[in-house]
Amino acid sequence: MMRLSPSSEGWSGTVTTDWYGDIPMRAVEMKQGVASFLIDNGNPRLPPRQWSARLENGGLHVTGDIWERHVDERVRRGTQADEKRLAFPVAPLPAPATLKPDGLAATPPMGWSSWNRFAAAIDDRTVREIADHLVSSGLRDAGYRFVNIDDGWQGSRSADGTIRPNARFPDMKALTAYVHSKGLKIGIYSSPGPKTCAGFTGSYGHVEQDARTFAEWGFDYLKYDLCSGEGIFRTAAQVKLAYQQMGQALRATGRPIVYSLCQYGRDRVGTWGRDVGGHLWRTTSDIEDKYASMAAIGFDRNGDPANAGPGGWNDPDMLEVGNGGMSEDEYRTHMTLWAMQAAPLMLGNDVRTMSPSTISLLENRGVIAIDQDPLGKQGHRVRKDGDAEIWMKPLADGSSAIALFNRGTEPRDIRLLPEDTGAAPISSLQEVWANAPDNPNRRSWTVPAHGAVLLRVSAR
Ligand code: GAL
Repeated sequence: MMRLSPSSEGWSGTVTTDWYGDIPMRAVEMKQGVASFLIDNGNPRLPPRQWSARLENGGLHVTGDIWERHVDERVRRGTQADEKRLAFPVAPLPAPATLKPDGLAATPPMGWSSWNRFAAAIDDRTVREIADHLVSSGLRDAGYRFVNIDDGWQGSRSADGTIRPNARFPDMKALTAYVHSKGLKIGIYSSPGPKTCAGFTGSYGHVEQDARTFAEWGFDYLKYDLCSGEGIFRTAAQVKLAYQQMGQALRATGRPIVYSLCQYGRDRVGTWGRDVGGHLWRTTSDIEDKYASMAAIGFDRNGDPANAGPGGWNDPDMLEVGNGGMSEDEYRTHMTLWAMQAAPLMLGNDVRTMSPSTISLLENRGVIAIDQDPLGKQGHRVRKDGDAEIWMKPLADGSSAIALFNRGTEPRDIRLLPEDTGAAPISSLQEVWANAPDNPNRRSWTVPAHGAVLLRVSAR
């Protein structure tokens, strides 16, 4: 629906869409029966788009672009009844509040998520098989506990507004019971907007109702993805309240539910993620199964370590290990970086078919222990020397994890300098990936191209 009206200040109007509700027209110009205006969907990375509406054969010819859609429609003049029928119902936001910590996510959440490998082509049977294989492969016992359904499970709402799964998920309660029977937990996905990123039904206007439904179905985790909400919640304050609303709704169910915020790291989310009930918050847009994407995120976009710790974690997005787009050394860097940064470890591969190399990358107990260390300190870069980077993460037992990264395309020797580890002499050195002690006097390692060496260092 398009509304356009004159006033003493000129013309103004809105375009109403299923995804974004009423979008205000900007810079409206009216010339010889043609209205031109700008429309944007609230995404700060997309420029506003030029639209036009011209009188043609007694109707209106509207053209423009929004998100990934090109609009080219011939529309008719509506009646008041049409306007009422097509009106976008505006849902209120709560008053600002600060939620208290609830004790969940004492260490970064670990599990599996459907998105990176399956996108929206996910179904009940695949989820069950993934659960089976998390158990049989040993991944569950290595710590990967959540089986998370990402976008693509949603159907339509029933007459009373209750969300229903689509035909690929015939019985959500039976599915959660099955996953629970395997000693695993299970997660689900929604958006504060009317539509999710893949165009499925979002929680807009049904936030409390959806939280109750997810709890009643037996879910233990919710990823809440801004998606179309960016066109509705246009200020940082509104985005925060939209996340707070679901945080409060989840608490009100009485069921412990880990709450994962996904708004791509905007608005300094790390500084308020906990206050709205979040246990992890994305710090970046989507990862891709390519070294350049993983490295750009892992080295440079993982959020401020000061915001991370027990109960709330920076989330540089899910793992790509095992999806085939990177070399073994590159995937080793991926895991090492995520572990060093106390990042949530959400597998993104098909765990039903894993190579021995993938299994050993994902199940290394020493690497997982660094990620899950109870002190919960996010590591940081201590030194950079061209393509070499040295990172440090303090650990609960007083030792530190030290990672040597080679971002270059040739192998290179990386030296550990006294300032990298602090003043005290090193008393023991463990090569974590090899699970083998190293000579405490050793100070140089040859690190493969795009590779990493991970050390656990004790000093006296
Ligand atoms: C993106 C999100 C992805 C995935 C996808 C689903 O916005 O960052 O991780 O959830 O939506 O459509």
